[in-house]
Amino acid sequence: MGIAFFEKDKIFKLDTPSSTYMIAIVDEEGFLGHVYYGKRVPDENLSYLMRTREAPFTPSVNNRDRASFLNTFPMEYPTHGLGDYREDCLSVLTQAGHSACGLRYVSHRIFPGKPKLEGLPATFGGEGDCTTLELLAEDPVLQLRVVLRYTAFERLDAVTRSVVLTNGSEEPLRLTKVLSACLDMDNRNFDLITLHGAWARERQIQRSPLCRGRQSAFSVCGESSHQEHPFLALAEKAATQDSGEVYAMNFVYSGNFLAQAELTQFDSVRAVMGIHPYDFCWTLAPGESFTAPEVVLVYSDSGLGGMTRTFHDLYRGHLIRGEYRDKPRPVLINNWEATYFDFNTEKLIAIARQAASLGIEMLVMDDGWFGGRSSDDCALGDWQVNENKLPGGLRRLADEVNRLGMRFGIWMEPEMISPDSDLYRAHPDWAIRIPGRTAVRSRNQYVLDFSRREVRNYIYECVRAVLKSANIDYLKWDMNRQLTDLGGIALPAGRQGELLHRYTLGVYEMQERLVTEFPHLLLENCSGGGARFDPGMLYYSPQIWCSDDTDAVERLKIQEGTALVYPLSAMGAHVSDCPNHAVGRVTPFETRGYVALAGTFGYELDVTKIPKEDRDQIPGQIALYHRYSGLMRQGDYYRVASYAENHGYDCWMVVSKDKQEALVTYIQVLGRPNAHSVRVRLNGLDESALYRVEGEGQEEQVLSGAALRCAGINVGGLWGDFRGRLIHLTAERT
Ligand code: GLA
Repeated sequence: MGIAFFEKDKIFKLDTPSSTYMIAIVDEEGFLGHVYYGKRVPDENLSYLMRTREAPFTPSVNNRDRASFLNTFPMEYPTHGLGDYREDCLSVLTQAGHSACGLRYVSHRIFPGKPKLEGLPATFGGEGDCTTLELLAEDPVLQLRVVLRYTAFERLDAVTRSVVLTNGSEEPLRLTKVLSACLDMDNRNFDLITLHGAWARERQIQRSPLCRGRQSAFSVCGESSHQEHPFLALAEKAATQDSGEVYAMNFVYSGNFLAQAELTQFDSVRAVMGIHPYDFCWTLAPGESFTAPEVVLVYSDSGLGGMTRTFHDLYRGHLIRGEYRDKPRPVLINNWEATYFDFNTEKLIAIARQAASLGIEMLVMDDGWFGGRSSDDCALGDWQVNENKLPGGLRRLADEVNRLGMRFGIWMEPEMISPDSDLYRAHPDWAIRIPGRTAVRSRNQYVLDFSRREVRNYIYECVRAVLKSANIDYLKWDMNRQLTDLGGIALPAGRQGELLHRYTLGVYEMQERLVTEFPHLLLENCSGGGARFDPGMLYYSPQIWCSDDTDAVERLKIQEGTALVYPLSAMGAHVSDCPNHAVGRVTPFETRGYVALAGTFGYELDVTKIPKEDRDQIPGQIALYHRYSGLMRQGDYYRVASYAENHGYDCWMVVSKDKQEALVTYIQVLGRPNAHSVRVRLNGLDESALYRVEGEGQEEQVLSGAALRCAGINVGGLWGDFRGRLIHLTAERT
């Protein structure tokens, strides 16, 4: 495994346990050609795959200085303006106004481990975990040096890519497009899988045939967004959860992105990913460097399930940091859906007292505790406690909550400023806006210009003061609007196109400071629900609020899409009250609990007001959470059936790494008359072991892993809509 360079053929071979990625330096031109990515092969040279001698037109010869060659050749990092008319990754504007760019190999370096990406979130790995290849290429005309960085993981089928550009010339260069990765392949009747949605409907899976032309998912609103997701997968038409080849790309970034697949005239596919060029232009002064964020490539020859488990393991082991990565998270109760803005110490203590008696471990006070905030139209930026609501301040409240045996957490939205706030009255120029133009409000608020150090420093001190003012164990960092009116007052005219990326870097810098100074804080990111649920944010917070939609049925689809890429331990999921505030649906309390168990688990309701029969279930639900949280956090996730596909029922399971234990969750969405039980085939078990199968309402059986896999079990006897069942499997000692 690892990375090898074969001098004679000028081939780089990157091996992971089941995949090979191959790059060639092409003859005297020094092109970096993409040779192969797929199932692992022993061969050292497959460069015939690049078709360097095939004529693009008939009759013709294939001269490599021709556009016809460059427009078909599989490039590792295609550039703009020299004949490759497929989507390119790099476009550079010179002082003279020209935008062409061409790269030639110069040198390379191979070394164990993985360097950090300056100022950016990225996966990490020690010397025994991975090997890195740095390919230095250059445009001799522009004197632009480009380092293409690849890391191959030893125990996971993941290869990561990023790019560092350095201006070696005497004049400024303007980067108008810098994507992070490109993957050129022949089409194999691929389907394209992307995640789409809306507020309260995030990350719904879309699978469609790859068509001619360009199909993309993208965001241009300053965050990874509710609507689209920085992920794409190319799956063979026949690929299922368990079989078939899948190639996936995921962007470790939280701002604008482009994720695109293009089917070309010669049936090749070019997939690219990176910062969206829209509203992007970065001036690189002589000697300066620019780092493009990381793209994670995952290859699976065991279907979508294999891809999912590689992402889960990679992110749990090599992206998420901090002590909560491996620790059970406290069962919390959040007052947002319980009270919205209408609360005070008394109300919160009443909720906490009742919650503590049921075994809930932490109270989280959501929006509305600061400044004059009693609705969403004011006070963001005024991070001083509202003593009318909370006399004695945060300390008194936190102390009282602590006395009840619970921990205390708090909500903040540090990136925002309300026009009606003391902060705005003092610093109207801190909001992102274009001078002379009335800025567009969204949720009645503006966005603070986090590209500016003085703004970040001020807000950081506010967050710090809040966290130091009381015993606060948890922070929900929210971000409730998309960006408009892109004017950065601290940036000169020629650098306005840097604002969005500088803003995102500013958010990262703030969160890095926070997790460094408060290593014991449990940080949960959030963005109007799940608009910034991406690997970039996961680098800072081990969990992210998945969606403002807490309805158990809607959550099936949202959580299925989210878990396609992200570990269950990262998915913020709570039991809320009914009728559900997003859809008005009434579901059994028990089912809401089963669905939330697949995430971080907590409550979001007024526990003093819910029906007694629901409240009485809480201690049992918390016991279930404690019993299974290790399994859910660390185990292997298998999607058994999808309600989004079959419109009837949902089923997933988590198997412990040693295959000794598994938990199956089955949700019947709508009851059917005159129905037989449903047969589900289980997965991920040791086929030679015997398992005891148990669950309330489920016939207790001892069956072989092979029978469970090949034949399955019957799940039936569920009466009514929205009913669920947990089925627990334990390997029998032999
Ligand atoms: C966002 C979050 C919610 C809640 C509100 C508070 O919408 O997603 O959970 O915190 O903000 O304003």
